Amino acid sequence: MNPDDLRRRLEFYRDLGITTLYRRGDSVSPPRRSTPDSSPGAAPAPERNPRPPSAPPEPASFAKPAPPDQPALLGDGLLPGLAPPDDSMEKIRADIGDCTRCRLHEGRTNIVFGVGNEKSPLVFVGEGPGADEDAQGIPFVGRAGQLLTAMIEKTAAKEGIPLERKDVYICNVVKCRPPNNRTPQPDEMEICGQFLFRQLMVIRPKAIVALGGTAAKALLGTREGVTRLRGKWRRWNGIPVMVTYHPSYLLRPYNKNAKREAWEDLRTVLHYVYD
Ligand code: SF4
Ligand code: URA
Repeated sequence: MNPDDLRRRLEFYRDLGITTLYRRGDSVSPPRRSTPDSSPGAAPAPERNPRPPSAPPEPASFAKPAPPDQPALLGDGLLPGLAPPDDSMEKIRADIGDCTRCRLHEGRTNIVFGVGNEKSPLVFVGEGPGADEDAQGIPFVGRAGQLLTAMIEKTAAKEGIPLERKDVYICNVVKCRPPNNRTPQPDEMEICGQFLFRQLMVIRPKAIVALGGTAAKALLGTREGVTRLRGKWRRWNGIPVMVTYHPSYLLRPYNKNAKREAWEDLRTVLHYVYD
């Protein structure tokens, strides 16, 4: 990387609130591209095989700072350790501040950071706030949100798992509402996604549910569609990820099959996390 690129990269990370960088050996791998699952319908691999040889490093090595006299090495396409070693939700929120890092700030009323139990073993990741979320500053409170809440609580109840919406953590890839609810653009996802990644590293849940294609793309780096990705365990930095349909998609008519599949995905996740 030439010095100008390096400077721009470092300024970019500084703007994200990241002031400590780590040596290449200590840095976290970028999310793995579409991870092939061992076998269809298999139980979640992580239980049987918590550290496959190609698994990304554990957070302990992720958080290890470089000795102060070592310059940070940033390879092309390789993200440095993004989070300070003592990262916390408060820190991430403070770093976001009154964020203007991408164009989505222009139309927002509220930054929608996330809601729920910050120690939850299960995190749901959506795409970005809609009108209701923007107005209230809380993710998934509109129609899609009500469906998500019902899906979580009803599926859990049916499976004999005592779980309410407040027990899980819910957030989005981008924290500000895209105009007319358009899909977030790649640069917006990349910039704001760093905050999502930090949230996930702080929580380190047992599993993540990616709701829809945007969350799947942000976490898995794949452009594959939800229909092909859903139903099987993937990984983000070692954490099992289940992709499923976004509740907005399920609200549309003629998606009966998708509804059943989403319920199946959720059931798989709930048993894996809470059994
Ligand atoms: Fe900042 Fe994220 Fe909002 Fe963009 S979407 S302005 S990066 S908080
Ligand atoms: N859709 C999302 O992806 N996120 C929300 O918070 C609400 C609707």
